[in-house]
Formats: sequence, structure tokens, C-alpha cells
Amino acid sequence: MHVLEADESGRVAVCRADELADGERLLFRVGRRRFGLFRYDGRFFALNGVCPHAAGALCEGPLTGTALPTDEFTYDYGKDGQVLRCAWHGFEFDITTGRSLVDPKLRARTFPVRVEDGAVVVELRPRK
Ligand code: FES
Repeated sequence: MHVLEADESGRVAVCRADELADGERLLFRVGRRRFGLFRYDGRFFALNGVCPHAAGALCEGPLTGTALPTDEFTYDYGKDGQVLRCAWHGFEFDITTGRSLVDPKLRARTFPVRVEDGAVVVELRPRK
């Protein structure tokens, strides 16, 4: 886990964009707060490392996909690499939105991410 510091406006440069390949993640801490930075489909997403279910290690769980809505007796798998399964009890969250797959009202906190001069910068104020 990388230990980083935020600037006075709450922004933290986590890594260079080319350091994180599609499907990879980087776990980091700022003070006592834990986060995960994910790259999926060429874009970056930052999630709070604390699971909204019971404060487990959300970002340390496996990245997977899920069964997609289909017609009866049809089973399609999709969103491969977009679904984060919490390391503690297995609740699944969409890394692009932070929302739980089974209960959209349950949501992991997400944070805006920008690439600036090749650096991936996370704003540690939660997305509204
Ligand atoms: S703490 Fe994450 S699913 Fe329970």
C-alpha cells in the first residue's frame, strides 16, 4: 500500500497514468484513510477503501463481472473487471459508480480522478 500526502486542497497525485494498466488497481493511504485507484476500460476510478456494509477492506477484494439482465433461461456474463467484490463479505460494487449491484442505495464513496501532465490526481472530496 502506497502512503501518500494530499496538498492543501485535498488533491493527491497517486501515480503516473502509464503505471497502471487496464484491469489493475493501486491501493493507497492518505493519513488514516484508505483508497483504491482502478483502471477500467482506459479510465480511472477512485473508491474509498472502507466498505459501506461493515467497514471491511473493500478495495482488496477481487475484480470480477456479473450476470447481466437477460430473458428467461438465458445467462450472459458481462462487466468483466468492472465489479469489485468486498474482501470481507462479498458484497459487489460497480467501480465506475460505487453502487452496490443488489442494492443501489448502498454505495461506496467515489472520488473525482483527473489525469494532469501524465499524473493521475484524485480529489479526496467525495463525488456528489
Ligand atoms: S464489509 Fe464489505 S461486504 Fe461486509
